[in-house]
This record gives sequence, structure tokens and C-alpha cells, in this order.
Amino acid sequence: MRGGSAVTEGRVPVFGETAVGETAAGGTVRRVVYPGSFDPVTNGHLDIIVRAARLHDEVFVVVGANLAKEGLFSVDERLAMLREVTRGQPNVRVDKFRGLLVEFCKAHHISAIVKGLRAVSDFEYEMEMAQMNYRLEEIETLFMTANPLYSFLRSSLVKEIARYGGDVSSLVPEPVFKQLQERLAAP
Ligand code: PNS
Repeated sequence: MRGGSAVTEGRVPVFGETAVGETAAGGTVRRVVYPGSFDPVTNGHLDIIVRAARLHDEVFVVVGANLAKEGLFSVDERLAMLREVTRGQPNVRVDKFRGLLVEFCKAHHISAIVKGLRAVSDFEYEMEMAQMNYRLEEIETLFMTANPLYSFLRSSLVKEIARYGGDVSSLVPEPVFKQLQERLAAP
């Protein structure tokens, strides 16, 4: 990078500059956020997390806590499952946020959001959010195409299938499968 970093100069860092956070040694960290409800995390989410972690220095996987009351799992349960299934990924951090995602990004020196696109039907909604987040705080959005193995997968469908006794063992990580069984076995 030319001269001082955007962070030390007090500017909003631009993703192309690579500088979004600084290491203790004065280097830079390419840091992105992967937000979602994760109620619960699926193999499709995990696929994106692992691939995003290969491309960036740090990936913050964050649970949006605004709408959490309506979920099957509490925010803390979702965080615990995410931490367990990402334990093998040293550059993945799990956290939650309230309010606007762009505010979380600013507070953590994150200049890009990673989103998975499963099908064209996801695109319109995601495009709108991406443009709004850029308009609000110049936060970029990077779209990753879903692994075709998981392009039909969403948490709400997994919960519905599990609720009616269908087998979701190949759709979610093992610890999540156990949690789903326990939660849905309750009378
Ligand atoms: O897994 P989901 O339900 O698709 O996740 C949606 C989420 C949490 C990523 C999105 O609703 C969000 O970013 N909410 C935070 C509030 C916010 O910033 N809203 C403005 C979006 S332009």
C-alpha cells in the first residue's frame, strides 16, 4: 500500500486498498463479514464460510440479533453452534450484532460483506441490500455463488423437514443435527 494506511489516516478504507484493519506489526488485515440469521447454520452456510476464509485474512460470521425472538434457536444457541462448526477455521470469528450491519462493519473496520447467492431468486433482494449498504456507508458486498450441492438449502426448509420427521442429517453439520433433534423432540 502507498504511504500510511487508510486506518491510520482516519479515512474509510476502500476494499481495493486491502487495508481494513491493522495487525500489531503494522501490516493490514483483509477482513470481511458474513451476516445472517443462522437459525440454524446449514452446510450451505458452512461452505460459504470456509470458501470465504480461504480468500480473506479474517471472516466475521455474525448473527443478526434484531429478529431473533422469532427463531427456533436463541441467539446464544446459534452462536454456540457456529463456534462449534467453525472451530477448525482459525481466521473465522463468530459474533452477533444489533441494529444496522453497516454500523457493525464500521466499528470493526470491515469494508465488505460476503453473501451467498443460491439462485436468481435471491438476487433481487440481495442486490437491493447491497446497494443500500453501499449508499449508507460505502460498504461493498461480495457475492459468492452457492455450491450446487446446497443451492436448494435454507434454514427454514431444514427446520420444516426436521419438524415433520424428515432426514436432514446430510444438510446440516453434525452438532446442529443433534440440536435440531433435541429441540424438536420436545413435546
Ligand atoms: O439470513 P438472513 O435472514 O437472510 O439475514 C438477513 C440479515 C441479518 C443479513 C439482514 O437482515 C441484515 O443485514 N439485517 C441487519 C439490519 C440492516 O442492516 N438492515 C438494512 C439492510 S440494507
